[in-house]
Amino acid sequence: MSDTSQDTPHVPGPSLWPIGFAIGVACLLLGLVISWIVAAIGAVLAVVFGLLWARDVTRDVRDEVPEIEPETRAVADTAAAASAPDAAPAPLPTYTRSRFLEASTIGLGAAIGAIVTVPVLGFMVLPSFTNLEESEADLGPIDNFPEGTFVIASYLANPTAGEVSRRTAFVRNNGPAESGEPSFTILYSRCVHLGCPVQPNGPIDEDARKEVNGVELRPVLAQSFGCPCHGGLYDAEGNRQAGPPVRSMDRYAFSIKDGRLVLGELFAVGSVSGSGASASISRYPWSTPGTHVDGIEAWLYPIVPSQVTG
Ligand code: FES
Repeated sequence: MSDTSQDTPHVPGPSLWPIGFAIGVACLLLGLVISWIVAAIGAVLAVVFGLLWARDVTRDVRDEVPEIEPETRAVADTAAAASAPDAAPAPLPTYTRSRFLEASTIGLGAAIGAIVTVPVLGFMVLPSFTNLEESEADLGPIDNFPEGTFVIASYLANPTAGEVSRRTAFVRNNGPAESGEPSFTILYSRCVHLGCPVQPNGPIDEDARKEVNGVELRPVLAQSFGCPCHGGLYDAEGNRQAGPPVRSMDRYAFSIKDGRLVLGELFAVGSVSGSGASASISRYPWSTPGTHVDGIEAWLYPIVPSQVTG
């Protein structure tokens, strides 16, 4: 009677781990586009379910460690050995084709995943470590900003990249705040509808134009700001007054270092009440143009595509 157990094909039991692994990878890829938090959750899911899956698939290999009997030699019983010349040799441990295919499928999948993911992660993560200072820009001594007047400041955020990195900010010295600290309103010129360059509504004093440390400064009598693309209109605090923009103009954080005005990071603004040094600003993390940062719309459209601030 033949041993049928050797003829039974090896079929792995049903498992949910591959589904979890696939969900993790999908989350990771989606997260690379919309949010680091989602990407991190996806990566954790993919690693955990991937390990569980691999453990499941390789269980048979790990469990079936054959007990090897000590090697012996028949010395005395040569007659018996001679009488049974067809005795079957002890079975060797086997490694079936199905196991080989499973292992190679997982290995191949991991290799392809690494080839696709590592360069993407590199391009997205490395700039965070190589351009730490890019978000800062030195606009020169604060004396260049007369109190109560907007100044158009134009500078290269990354001089090695050239004109493509040019940024424009509308800077108003509000005078000292209640605390005695200098106060500045610094609006980013990019329209928060679709990103067109916003223009100040008022005459520019070209005679007073100056260039300091590579930064072009031009005073302007602006009481509002307009966007030429679709008619967006903002007041002097950057609040939306008309047109399709979905929030107030973005602003720069700033600091004063050795009497010089230094731009910090951009942030989004829901609305501004009051004005100048006493303004109350609803501040949010920077977001792409067209994105609501407060109100019910922020809940209705929670996914924000990643985008550079240029
Ligand atoms: S881009 Fe400014 S109003 Fe549309």
